[in-house]
Amino acid sequence: MQEKYHIVTYGCQMNVHESEKIASILRRVGYEQAPTIENADIIVFNTCCIRENAENHAFGNIGALKKMKKRNPRLIIAVGGCMTQEKGKTEILKKKFPFIDIMFGALNFEELETLIVRKKQEKKRVIEIREAAGEIVESVEPYRTSYPNAWVNITYGCNNFCSYCIVPYVRGRERSRKPEYILAEVRSLVEQGYKEITLLGQNVNSYGADGSTGMSFAELLDAVASIEGNFRVRFMTSHPKDFTEDVVRVMEKHRKICRLVHLPVQSGSNEILREMNRRYTREKYLGEIEMLRSRLPEAEVTTDIIVGFPRETEEDYLQTEALVKEVDFASAFTFVYSPRQGTRAATMENQVPEDVQKDRIMRLVALVNALTRKKSEKYLGKTVEILCEDYDEKKGLYLGRDEFGRMGYFQSETDKIGEFVRLKITKANGISLYGEIVE
Ligand code: SAH
Ligand code: SF4
Ligand code: F3S
Repeated sequence: MQEKYHIVTYGCQMNVHESEKIASILRRVGYEQAPTIENADIIVFNTCCIRENAENHAFGNIGALKKMKKRNPRLIIAVGGCMTQEKGKTEILKKKFPFIDIMFGALNFEELETLIVRKKQEKKRVIEIREAAGEIVESVEPYRTSYPNAWVNITYGCNNFCSYCIVPYVRGRERSRKPEYILAEVRSLVEQGYKEITLLGQNVNSYGADGSTGMSFAELLDAVASIEGNFRVRFMTSHPKDFTEDVVRVMEKHRKICRLVHLPVQSGSNEILREMNRRYTREKYLGEIEMLRSRLPEAEVTTDIIVGFPRETEEDYLQTEALVKEVDFASAFTFVYSPRQGTRAATMENQVPEDVQKDRIMRLVALVNALTRKKSEKYLGKTVEILCEDYDEKKGLYLGRDEFGRMGYFQSETDKIGEFVRLKITKANGISLYGEIVE
């Protein structure tokens, strides 16, 4: 009988996509996907360390496997991703979970195949973590299960060193993929029928900034959107310090590019932005929103915000609230600041007490939810184009997203997955829309 794999993924879209590459490697070894974790012969954890709770999640779930491993000693448990790449974490994992069989890092997941072979031969724990990133590996073709959506890496790593962030330490320096690989990948995806392509990078705007690609992000986006076919293009994440008009001009040129920009602001206070080493001001950020909307009035913006960063005063926090109202974000991911070892912010004085952080996050979440709900209500009676992605068994409805990422549910007698459908919105429930197909 063929052996089976199960992958547990934490963290960002980049990691979700990396798990598709890990799946591809496991299939190459000869495994097939397990129907549930209990049926697996190998379980791979692809971890995240962006905030403490991401790590606690992984610790909890890995710990829970001890019993399974006792029951089935042949079960292989592999842990990789950003956590194993973090200084000192591998030691902690090793001590805490002696039953882990394989450990690899975010920078060498391509080696998993050889590590599995070694594990099967040597019978002892195999650990292989690389300190620095090597050349970009182009030979692992992801095993995608996300039809009709597909993610495509354009850069890896990050050079920005925002003072709170661990990504540059665990993902290494920024590397850009060669445009010919990216374009060939998108072309092939479109030929296979994928309808939504999302270009991924920690800061897509700095694509090719090291001169290695002969192309800027705007030029790459133009080339991707120029590929023939019926599909949408998204990109994330944009960094406000580098977000420029040339990108918006390319958006204007191609209707294929969704009118949505994910532009994390992090804080509305210039003092805090400076402490965060974000290298833009509130005014610059608002100027970019104005530039975007002057060219594309229908454009929507989503963002990430951190509250309770060291030294954040009530006044600073209120500036974030005011900015949120002013920009009128379509939605926002909101986080409580979490100190990360090795980052500058973790050693800063005046860390904000937990009760104050909690109070601010609750107020901000309430504000963001109210804005999102109000935006949903504006959809009532309108007709929107949805890319149907899935079928919700519980609801008995198909679902998909409009270009702004809004979820829309609808009924259909025939399978619509992978099709663009026009929906007349009849109900707006919080962030979800419900509608009927119109021809
Ligand atoms: N490269 C992207 C985002 C990377 S991480 C960018 O520059 O915006 C995703 C989000 O996690 C960040 O935007 C930030 O809001 C949040 N984040 C990162 N480090 C954090 C920390 N130490 N504590 C709380 N939130 C954090
Ligand atoms: Fe982290 Fe800043 Fe890089 Fe984003 S740009 S990954 S927040 S260091
Ligand atoms: Fe992503 Fe988490 Fe790593 S957000 S890059 S998986 S630390």
